[in-house]
Amino acid sequence: MTSLISKKSSPLSGITKISGDKSISHRALMLGALTVGETIISGLLESEDVLNTANAMRAMGAQIKHHSDGLWRCYGVGVGGLVQPENVLEMGNSGTSTRLLMGLVSTHPIITKFQGDASLTKRPMNRIIEPLEMMCANFDASEGGCLPITVHGTDHPLSIKYELPVASAQVKSAILLAGLNSKGRTTIIERKPTRDHTENMLNAFGVEVITTKLDNGHYAINMLGQQELQPCAIDVPGDPSSAAFPTVAAILTKGSKLQLSDIGINDRRIGLYLTLKEMGADITFEYEHIQSGEKIANIIVKGNSELKGINVDPALVPSMIDEFPILAIAAACAKGTTTMTGLAELRVKESDRLLMMANGLKACGVNLEMGKDSLTIHGTGKPPKGGAEIKTAMDHRIAMSFLILGSVSDEPISIDDATSIQTSFPNFVKLMNELGCNINPINN
Ligand code: S3P
Repeated sequence: MTSLISKKSSPLSGITKISGDKSISHRALMLGALTVGETIISGLLESEDVLNTANAMRAMGAQIKHHSDGLWRCYGVGVGGLVQPENVLEMGNSGTSTRLLMGLVSTHPIITKFQGDASLTKRPMNRIIEPLEMMCANFDASEGGCLPITVHGTDHPLSIKYELPVASAQVKSAILLAGLNSKGRTTIIERKPTRDHTENMLNAFGVEVITTKLDNGHYAINMLGQQELQPCAIDVPGDPSSAAFPTVAAILTKGSKLQLSDIGINDRRIGLYLTLKEMGADITFEYEHIQSGEKIANIIVKGNSELKGINVDPALVPSMIDEFPILAIAAACAKGTTTMTGLAELRVKESDRLLMMANGLKACGVNLEMGKDSLTIHGTGKPPKGGAEIKTAMDHRIAMSFLILGSVSDEPISIDDATSIQTSFPNFVKLMNELGCNINPINN
């Protein structure tokens, strides 16, 4: 367990890349493993979560090779070709690996056991078990529908039409991946648009997935099963959820100027950036273009404006679902009250993020109220006192958010355990320090 301490930062400056998008990296390995032929992936995020996906795909028959030039090459087994793994699949901290892979194996006639760390073991899996059972898979789950779970995949998969009860890209993707090996049409209805990387990447691999906006504003996603995937090259963009940390650090530190190059700016991922702009932040997207089916840009951030509190648009929640911890840090430094509502899903992330943020911010001297699914933060227009030791509860985004707060607060902030940062942003500390931060291990 490494504890870290973050002290006041110099103005942040530099032009840098951010490691690859986690969601897209998982999907690239999964789809590469289902393609006959060679899939070349560049810019893959080499973090613990993504490596768990790579190991699982290898255990089910795919060849996945990491080359010294940073390229990953997959030689897949074809749609429907996954083999039964000899051992339990270790998912570590990764909800995305677990839920998407459960979808994938549920329509193969194989038995697969999934387990994870203490954080992942608490997370709800019934949300994917329900639709996958409709497709004829069977599940032996632990109490409360949690891991460890054994999936008994079916050899007679049924395609389904399913309306998502929660806005979840993981559930949508699990059903699409299950539908790949099912005869007939899979239809998913989503009331609120969630990240569409699975749909985009399936299209890049030559599978027709069609999304239509319905008259009532909902979205219908349609895909015919048993289409073959065509090999392709995937260039993974920088992760906007990771880029959020240097972005907020630069906004809060006067005199900062950063260029974060080649970051994914998919419309369904940029809620944080739109919200920060509404709060008065100086953020621009430059050189927008399409890469491997995804919109990317250079993000330019300047620390030259005062942030003001706002009511965050609840319609934006799915497009910034992972960014509320770092938004709460920005809100704590803004002038006035910021209200965030519709946050029930934050209770079931890597930790109960509403509670962890509320407790941590209070310990740093921030005035706030937490509701069942809301957070109201009263900012004073300057950073809070800080000076606390924050518990991270195995949650990478809680850990990184408070290290960013420590770079602007009056007194340093420490975190009890930095291990979780490896799951999504392994070079976070090195990169932030290169840009001007002052984050160091505590020698106990
Ligand atoms: C993800 C979807 C989101 C997000 C997670 C990654 C994905 O989860 O929080 O970090 O890659 O599909 P939900 O589907 O539970 O909202």
